[in-house]
Parts: sequence; structure tokens; C-alpha cells
Amino acid sequence: MLKASNVTPNTSWNNWPQLPAPAFDDPALQIRIYQGDCLEILPALPEESVDLIFADPPYFLSNGGITCHAGRMVRVDKGDWDRSRGADANHEFNRAWLAACQRVLKPNGTIWVSGTRHVIYSVGFAMQQLGFKLLNDITWVKPNPPPNLSCRYFTHATETILWAAKSDRSRHKFNYRLMRQLNGGRQMKSVWTIPPPEPWEKRFGKHPTQKPVALLERILLAASDEGDLVLDPFLGSGTTAVAALRLSRMVWAIEQSGDCADLAQRRIVAELVQVDLFVCCTKGLDLVPRPVDRSRSRTRHGMTSRPLTKLMQQERMFYFVGTDEREVIFSVTARTMEEAWERFRNSPKAGKDIFCVIKTETEIYLAVGK
Ligand SMILES: C[S@@+](CC[C@H](N)C(=O)[O-])C[C@H]1O[C@@H](n2cnc3c(N)ncnc32)[C@H](O)[C@@H]1O
Repeated sequence: MLKASNVTPNTSWNNWPQLPAPAFDDPALQIRIYQGDCLEILPALPEESVDLIFADPPYFLSNGGITCHAGRMVRVDKGDWDRSRGADANHEFNRAWLAACQRVLKPNGTIWVSGTRHVIYSVGFAMQQLGFKLLNDITWVKPNPPPNLSCRYFTHATETILWAAKSDRSRHKFNYRLMRQLNGGRQMKSVWTIPPPEPWEKRFGKHPTQKPVALLERILLAASDEGDLVLDPFLGSGTTAVAALRLSRMVWAIEQSGDCADLAQRRIVAELVQVDLFVCCTKGLDLVPRPVDRSRSRTRHGMTSRPLTKLMQQERMFYFVGTDEREVIFSVTARTMEEAWERFRNSPKAGKDIFCVIKTETEIYLAVGK
């Protein structure tokens, strides 16, 4: 968990009044999310302020093709933001956001951009046009990719990640020893096999092009240190922010979709708040342990019949997590959020700043059937 003492705030947010109010802001840890178009927000960020940029831009591949998802044939449709506007317009867009990123990068900073064949050549060419120094093209291999349904191509199983420094004069950061250590004492190659996001990474909602946290952790470990400032201009579900938090980096991020920005915030808050909640049974239920023999409750067809249950206890708890402490400083049972806040305001903790409120519903059912 990132501690405020680990970071050295080097930029005052208030010096940049032309920026919109952030959708999420944690000044202590320096995590900031702006909702909007990165072409408008990047120019308002301070020049030469960022150590590392990870960008996962539109791939321009949602154009009526087909793919295989969960064993079914489906149209490729990630959203309007992913539709091609034609090769020239796509390239112009890539040049524009890359130039805006180059301006905010520190002289020795680096940028990592992921993409497939639909976009990556334009990104690479734009980088050359803008005077970035190309360092590596990483091949990210995805084990178990979906099959190619048309049977007219090889199965698409990789993405490319271009790594570039701000300019030819950059003395870029590369944590070579750490990478070698992570690779069992041998030099790490530019081919990385990393599985797609695990189910736990999608527990707050799904994004059609979500990257695995492990991929972002590898990138941040390779080219940044604790306390460095990371920027993601296409945040999506918030993967870069989650990885940055876990590795004690500061993060600024931009996302134009409100739904995605919300999803990213849910993931970030879950990282920030680690509280132990426990359920306490206060009704004195006589829960005599009985032997559990599942075979006896099976029907003739092998299906388990569901026993009848009786609701014994129902409770709605609200836990108030303090901004400074990052732990539960007040808890109360109440029927609604408004009632919980009312009780908080009348409590001795009323003067404390609240970071978030966690609501839990507990229901205890007694099994009364066979
Ligand atoms: C490929 S996804 C990023 C996925 C992300 N890496 C993740 O792991 O969830 C690209 C995201 O950029 C957003 N986007 C597209 N154009 C944008 C723009 N001009 N400014 C800001 N965000 C944009 C889309 O809404 C989408 O969520």
C-alpha cells in the first residue's frame, strides 16, 4: 500500500487552473483521474512532469469483423471510440496525442504504447516523425487466445508494445538487474508471455480491452521507481492506476467515458481501502453442528435439493472509513445511507474527514428443510 511518506509531491495541482475538476483526487497519494478527452487535458498538464507514460489507445478495429468470445461468434464492437476514421485521420489522431504526451514527459522519461497491427505501425511512424527514440518492441504473447473462426489467418495471439524515450538525447531508466532477477537470473527477452486478466481483476465490472495488472506491473517495474509519476491518457478500467498504486508510484490518468472512469474508481478505492470486516451473530442462534453428508441430500437424479430456510437475522451496516487513517473510524446499523450519515454527524467522530462508506447487508437463514 502506498504511504503518503513514500511520495515527494513535486507538482502543485492548483497551479493549473485550466484543468477541469478531477473525477477522482487523492492529494495525499497523488492519484488523479480526469474525465474527458486526452487531447484537451494533456495540453493543460505541466510540461516535463511525468516519468513514465503507458498508453493503450483505440486500436481502430471495431469495424464489423467477427471474433470468437466465450465459444460464440460475435461482432468486434468495443465501442464507438474504437471505430476507424480512415488511415489518415487515425494517424493524425495518433500524432496529436503522442505529441501531447511528449510535451509532458520529463527529458529522460519513457512511453509505452500497446497495439495490434491495426494501429501499431501508425504509432511507430508517428513516434519517428516526432523524434522519440524507439527502444524496444515488446511482443506480448497471450496463452490460449480465441480461435480464428474464418480459418483464413493464423490465430491472433500477440500484441505489440512499443517502448520509446522522449528524444535521442534521453538517458532512459531501465531497471535491468530487477528484470534479470524476475527472469530467474537470465536477461529478460522482449517476448513476454502473460495471461489475460484474471476473474478477480474484473470483479468490479468489465472493460472490453482490459489489460492484465501483471503486464502493467512488469512495465512499471522495468522503467520507473517508487515515487515516480506515471500517466495514462486512455485509462479504461484503471489497470495502470491499480498497478501504480500497488508499486507505490503516483498516477495521473485521463478517460473520456464516464462509465469507464467510474469502473476505474471502484478498482482504485478497493486498492486503497483494506479493512477487516467480520460478521458477528448476536441472535444467539442454536447452530448445533451436524454431520455434513452431501450424498444423503441428493435426489434420484443426482441433483442437490435446496433445503427450506427461514430468515433469522437481517442487518444493514455502514462503515465510515477515515481519510487520514484509512480504517473504519465509525460503524452503525441504519436503514438508509442518509440515516447512517445523520448518526455519524451526531457522533464524536463528526469532525473527521471521510474517505468512503462501506455498506454491508447481512442475512442469516436457518436451514429448516431436509
Ligand atoms: C483500449 S482502452 C484502455 C483499456 C485499459 N488499458 C484497461 O486496462 O482497462 C482505451 C480507452 O480509451 C478511452 N478513450 C478513447 N479515446 C479517448 C480520448 N480521446 N481521450 C480519453 N480517453 C479516450 C476509451 O473510452 C477506452 O476506455
